[in-house]
Amino acid sequence: MSEIIKPSGKKALLIDGKAASAAVLARVAAETANLAHKPGLAVVLVGEDPASQVYVKSKGKAAKECGFHSVQHDLPATTTQAQLIALVESLNADPAIHGILVQLPLPKGIDSSKVLETIAPEKDVDGFHPVNVGLLSAGLTERALVPCTPAGAMLLIQQAAKALGRDISGAEAVIVGRSNIVGKPMAQLLLAQNATVTVAHSRTKDLPAVARRADILVAAVGRPEMIRGDWIKPGALVIDVGINRVPGEGLNAQGQPKTRLVGDVALQEALDVAGAITPVPGGVGPMTIALLMSNTLQAAKRAAL
Ligand code: GUN
Repeated sequence: MSEIIKPSGKKALLIDGKAASAAVLARVAAETANLAHKPGLAVVLVGEDPASQVYVKSKGKAAKECGFHSVQHDLPATTTQAQLIALVESLNADPAIHGILVQLPLPKGIDSSKVLETIAPEKDVDGFHPVNVGLLSAGLTERALVPCTPAGAMLLIQQAAKALGRDISGAEAVIVGRSNIVGKPMAQLLLAQNATVTVAHSRTKDLPAVARRADILVAAVGRPEMIRGDWIKPGALVIDVGINRVPGEGLNAQGQPKTRLVGDVALQEALDVAGAITPVPGGVGPMTIALLMSNTLQAAKRAAL
């Protein structure tokens, strides 16, 4: 059995995203060591959102561990759109930088899509620029930069399907959630692998029945434990993209109420039904940063061609 597939003690197998992401990072670091020029990643943080600060710090740390040239630009919350766009343009022109990531959300008053459209498509390691969205939609995945979270989820699906002896080609895939960052690109990636794809969302009629059709069920709605055990087809491959912070039990060391992370799938119920599932935490989450590093390496390699 593959190293990323582990027993859970219940019916479903667990898909270990930490092990899968470590393997991606090890490959990126090994390839980087053989390059004449280091890949360069610039991460831009505007304002002081605490969650964004944590994410940006871990992106910089992973970049250094991969052997990249890593720079972080911290701008005050009062930064204007024009100032942010000027910074992006200077990074576009910097030959030492191959990947540019502007952390979202941006402060009110800044139009995110205007900023993201300023990033040179070949440096858009988030894959959010309309050129990359278009290349992915046209099935030109070799030339696109693909958004990191769905790309990471797709790798887990491929590795789990292989370990379980399942075909993605011809499988019924249902994605719950239609965001530009996860749901829509996930649909394109599954379609490129010849799955039959349904994108369901909050207005879908009889969502549980639609979900129960899925051989591959991807949950990306951002609602804690919305997908119950009886929404899952027995034996299905379940990929939980949700990361939701909910109240826990008791108080932490600072005397604050504890919180815990849960996915969009009710994990304990799903473990009795699914064939394999990504846990939260430790499933898709760690893959996002690993695929960001992989995208940056890819951008650097293409720049050197
Ligand atoms: N904020 C939360 N997730 C992401 C992401 O994947 N990319 C960027 N740029 N900002 C985010």
